[in-house]
Amino acid sequence: MQTISNCTVAAIQNAAKSLKDGHLVAFPTETVYGLGADATNEKAVSKIYSVKERPTDHPLIVHVSSWSQVEKWARDIPEYVKKLSDMYWPGPITLVLRRSHLAKDFVTGGQNTVGLRVPDQKIGLMLAKEFEKIGGLGIAAPSANKFGAVSPTTAEAVVDEIGAALGRLDLILDDGECKVGVESTIVDCTRDKPSILRPGAVTSEMIEETLNIKISQGAIDIQIRAPGSFKSHYAPMAKVALDESAQPGDGLIALASIPTPVGVIRLASPINHEEYANVLFRALRLGDQKGLKKIVVFQPEGSGLALAIRDRLVKAASG
Ligand code: TXA
Ligand code: MG
Repeated sequence: MQTISNCTVAAIQNAAKSLKDGHLVAFPTETVYGLGADATNEKAVSKIYSVKERPTDHPLIVHVSSWSQVEKWARDIPEYVKKLSDMYWPGPITLVLRRSHLAKDFVTGGQNTVGLRVPDQKIGLMLAKEFEKIGGLGIAAPSANKFGAVSPTTAEAVVDEIGAALGRLDLILDDGECKVGVESTIVDCTRDKPSILRPGAVTSEMIEETLNIKISQGAIDIQIRAPGSFKSHYAPMAKVALDESAQPGDGLIALASIPTPVGVIRLASPINHEEYANVLFRALRLGDQKGLKKIVVFQPEGSGLALAIRDRLVKAASG
């Protein structure tokens, strides 16, 4: 495994070639770091599952550079999907569509749908483009962490999570911190109206405004194996306790307006929800690095991004 910190065009072209040759490439996106493989190469994709120790019926998101690729991976695309793509791509939203013959069971976890996303990060997007230039069709990439653990938002966190499990020729592209910090919004677009399977930075309010309709929130179809069908997720080693009073020796993550009790180890003091999402996973990791047994987290109130943060926290706390 090699970490590339100087992501020149040549380095990214080389990484695209590595993908084509069947190796894994971890890369930054605006949400979290992904662990990528050629989405048409069964052997390469199977390595993702073994590195992550992830159940194989858990589907992967295919990352592409533009709408023209989407039409290759999906079929029977409802009209509203193009509006969402025009408005939010590149960006932190994954659209779940009916799959074409390209999206094989080894990517979709055996479902008839495929999740697609155009990332809004210079290096991640360039990797998708360079990969397509040499004949690639899409990069299958889950978050670059062990199954059930906290998603990495820096290249160092990728190394900590999966560095030891990567092969000699696998790569990690390092472009610093991810700007959003929580995973993309996942939207089921297989019906005449979209519904949200995982909240993220593109909120239901934003989608409702774009499409001028009301959509269902959190109505997860149990037939669809979206995150959350496994209760514990996004979990650090430390126990996560929500909205209780922190005791000396506990870690604390809360908005800056909440004071730190004596003897409590402050892990993050975000001033708003954007910053909260941005620091959350790094702060949970910091708690583990400090060897804390318990991290108390005060959940942000309200809708929008706060909903995405609470979704991750509730799952982290059920670990
Ligand atoms: O922001 C993100 O979405 C990041 C970056 C790397 O793009 N990726 C990510 O992937 O979070 P992952 O695999 O850790 O979480 C994606 C979730 C999976 O848990 C999976 O259940 C769901 O998306 N998913 C993928 N394809 C799906 C499909 N066809 N139907 C329903 N859920 C799907
Ligand atoms: Mg994940």
